[in-house]
Amino acid sequence: MENNLIDRQILSRLYSSRNRHVLMDEILSGCKASEATVHERLAMICQLGYVLETHPQYGVKLQSSPDDLMADDLAARLDACNESKSLKAIGNKIIIFEKTSSTNDVIHRFAKEGHSEGLVVFAESQTGGRGRHGRSWHSPPKRGLWFSILLRPDIDTLSAPRLTTLTTVAIARALMNITGLKLQVKWPNDILCQGKKVCGILVELSTQGEKIQYANVGIGINVNLKRKEFPAELLDIATSLEAEAGSSFSRPALAAEVLHQLNQFYVLIQNDDFSYVHAQWLELDCTLGQPITIKWTDGRKLRGIASNLDPDGALLVRTDDGMMERITAGEVSLEKQSAGNQMK
Ligand code: BTN
Repeated sequence: MENNLIDRQILSRLYSSRNRHVLMDEILSGCKASEATVHERLAMICQLGYVLETHPQYGVKLQSSPDDLMADDLAARLDACNESKSLKAIGNKIIIFEKTSSTNDVIHRFAKEGHSEGLVVFAESQTGGRGRHGRSWHSPPKRGLWFSILLRPDIDTLSAPRLTTLTTVAIARALMNITGLKLQVKWPNDILCQGKKVCGILVELSTQGEKIQYANVGIGINVNLKRKEFPAELLDIATSLEAEAGSSFSRPALAAEVLHQLNQFYVLIQNDDFSYVHAQWLELDCTLGQPITIKWTDGRKLRGIASNLDPDGALLVRTDDGMMERITAGEVSLEKQSAGNQMK
C-alpha cells in the first residue's frame, strides 16, 4: 500500500478519536500495514510537524497538527467526519498548489479536460484571485482558504441560484460551528461578521442550452489575516475570522468542516429538496425586511425592501411602488438606517 494512503488511514483514526489516545492495535488494524511500516509512518508524520503523544499503555494521541494545507491531511479529516463511510462527492480528489493565478482558472482547465465532479483545488496563495463584478480578491499566503470546487449538478440553469444559496449557507454553518462567531449572509453569496465580509463566493457556470455542464465554485475565506494585512481600501468592508474572534484558527480544520457541510447540503439539492437550505438562509440573512439597493453592472439601480428568497434562490424585493421583483443578479447593499429608524 502506498505511504500516503497509510498516512491518511493513521491520521483519520487519530482525528476520529477526538483528542483521546488510540491503541496501537487499533491503528494497525485500521491500516493494513506491518507494525514496522506504521512506526516508520508515525515518525514521518511527526517530521511533517504533527505532535504526537505516545503512551506505553494507552497508545497514540494527536496533540497538534500543522496549519499547512496537505491533501492527505484534508482527506483524513474528511474520512473522520464521514462516519457513515458513504461515498461523498465533494473532496473525492484534493489538489493543493503553493501558488497559482486563480483556483477558478485551474478548475476551468480540469473541467474542460473532463474531470469528474467533487475535485477541490486549494492554493496557499493566489496571484490573480478574482472576485465578483471583475474585482480582484486579496489572497495572501497561508492566511486564508482560497479554493474552488468542480460540480456537475443535474439541475437546469434556472435553478442555478440554488447552488449559490446552498454553498453560502453550508459555509456559514461550517464557520460558525468551528469559530463560535455569529455570522450572517447577504444575497447572493457573501458571509459577513459584524457587517463586514469574511467570505466571498464566485460561482462560474458553463452551460449548454438549459443545462449546466459544470459549476466552478470559488471560495475565499479570510481566516487568519490581521487587520494590518488588509489593503486600506478593504478595511471598512472586509474582516477575518481571527480579527473578529481575537484568536487564530486551524485552516485545515476549517477547510474540512466546510467540505463536510457542503457535502451534507449538496445531497439535498441533488434530491431536489431546497426547503432546508431555504429555511437556513432565512435564519441567517441580514437584509430581510430591510431597505436595500440593488446595483447592476450596467449602472441600473433598484430600491426596495428585501422580502424573501424564492424556491429557486432568487431574491424577492418589494419595490416602492408595491411590486414584487424577482432578482437573479446584481449587488445588494443595505440602505443606511437613519438615526430615527435605528431607535425603533
Ligand atoms: C466575491 O467577490 O465575493 C467572490 C470572491 C471569491 C474569491 C475566491 S478565492 C478562491 C477562488 N479563486 C478565485 O480567483 N476567486 C475565488
